[in-house]
Amino acid sequence: MVTLKERVDAAFADAAGPGLRAVATVAVGYDNIDVPALTSRGVVVAHTPGVLTDATADITLGLLLSVTRRLGEGERLLRSGTPWSFELDFMLGTGLTGRTLGIVGLGQIGRAVARRARAFGMEIVYTGRRPAPAGTEEELAAAYLPLPELLARADVVSLHCPLTADTHHLIDADALATMKPTAFLLNTARGPVVDEAALADALDAGTIAGAGLDVFEHEPEVHPGLLGRDDVALAPHLGSATVATRTAMATLAARNVVAVLRGERPPTPVPAD
Ligand code: DGY
Repeated sequence: MVTLKERVDAAFADAAGPGLRAVATVAVGYDNIDVPALTSRGVVVAHTPGVLTDATADITLGLLLSVTRRLGEGERLLRSGTPWSFELDFMLGTGLTGRTLGIVGLGQIGRAVARRARAFGMEIVYTGRRPAPAGTEEELAAAYLPLPELLARADVVSLHCPLTADTHHLIDADALATMKPTAFLLNTARGPVVDEAALADALDAGTIAGAGLDVFEHEPEVHPGLLGRDDVALAPHLGSATVATRTAMATLAARNVVAVLRGERPPTPVPAD
């Protein structure tokens, strides 16, 4: 059993030797695992989809509210002892009702985020590699858009795609330049989906209005250009960090291992591409 911090590749498999039968990651994302290197050696690879969907969607909405309503900035102001008083124009933020949320990757977590955003009165547009499951567009009143159009239209862009060669730096300087200057970017997927240096530059230049980040390109490091900014809400990869969720993830990973050792199909193998 591994976490997202371990690099599991051919060298890992060779070091483990022929006795290695399964690698079960306690995570839904498996970009740290070279799946072909393992499956070609007869090693079964499994992950933990489903059990962390709600927790991750919740933290996405937490970051959204934090950055749009300036909660972190407000807390820092209070804790610093800076004098303040209620004024009609004091620390005004951005409301969500009637705004458009652009979901990049309408998988389980993307759909859970969209459901929550609908409850906040947001409109949903989405993009992704695969068409949404039948009935999803109707349920979420969601419209498909190609990525460039989604970036140009959304007031909030939220990333829920896996990290692959195709999605590495999907949000780069060009993508950021396509977004509205009033728009916010959320990343609760994987850090390298965003070019963090380009994001820091875009925030400096006012290309976009802010960002909410739970994951980082060079975790646990955070780009220094993001750390001091009040228009960025930051969390230390807390998407699945609840007691119940981490317990469910670890239990599912253990069930995956036990199934393989019994010669059975694990409950949640990584999908064949
Ligand atoms: C995952 O499961 O991929 C998260 O990033 C860690 O919980």
